[in-house]
Amino acid sequence: MARGGAWPARQPILPEDGVGSGVRIEDVTLVRGHQRIFEGLTLDLRESRIGLIGDNGAGKSSLFRLISGLDKPQQGHVILSGSASPGQVGLLFQNPDDQIIFPTVAEELVFSLTARGETRQAARQRALDFLAGRGLSAWAGRSVGELSQGQRQQVCLMALQISEPQTLLLDEPYASLDLPSQSRLAAQIDASRQQIILSTHLLEHVHDFERVLWLEEGRVRVDGPGRAVCEAYAADVRERARAEAERGSHA
Ligand SMILES: Nc1ncnc2c1ncn2[C@@H]1O[C@H](COP(=O)(O)OP(=O)(O)O)[C@@H](O)[C@H]1O
Ligand SMILES: [Mg+2]
Repeated sequence: MARGGAWPARQPILPEDGVGSGVRIEDVTLVRGHQRIFEGLTLDLRESRIGLIGDNGAGKSSLFRLISGLDKPQQGHVILSGSASPGQVGLLFQNPDDQIIFPTVAEELVFSLTARGETRQAARQRALDFLAGRGLSAWAGRSVGELSQGQRQQVCLMALQISEPQTLLLDEPYASLDLPSQSRLAAQIDASRQQIILSTHLLEHVHDFERVLWLEEGRVRVDGPGRAVCEAYAADVRERARAEAERGSHA
């Protein structure tokens, strides 16, 4: 799996009709530890914007691990079409510390590029230019360990953005970002021509996506246009909270 991908990409990867590109998951069974996470899961993920929502433990991160090749299914297949190599998929981990390998911000970005075949010298120049373009030159030599969680997540995002994968998998990218960083990310996603699959608990960020999947216990409970699926999930959450309060008052 490659990390990285500069935003915006140069070419749209998905043709208008969406045929022939994207990710196909075919009859997949995935077991992690002692747990059967997915069983016979089949999904075609071809839209350019796909949201993943659902409770903790629903399987959002596991789906990303599967698509990015980090986890291999015990049964079935994950097929990346239109983006022939696994290097065309970049994953932003839910926890930045699972992604960051290098001690400084610049080295982290440089690695994204050298991993895709760029020479060290060219990669270093591009990384410095990239940081400068965002007004973050001062970050180049900074130790990653001295950044806040939200800043480390920004470093991970930049490491993704700089190397231009065709499909970006963003696992709860908004979770630890401050409000300005959230709106910056939303604008970048809007402008991007890459395929983006994004999980979040902040439903407003996927409301306008053409497709959202509501995952529940490793299965797709509802699959459809963002607004409708988000509303269905929010209504279900309200109903569960109501039932829980009622049980509490009878206890
Ligand atoms: N490293 C792991 N080993 C075994 N099971 C795991 C591991 N990580 C998560 N799981 C299990 O997989 C299921 C889905 O988790 P996850 O994909 O992390 O959900 P989400 O991202 O939607 O919160 C949960 O039941 C969780 O307990
Ligand atoms: Mg998760």
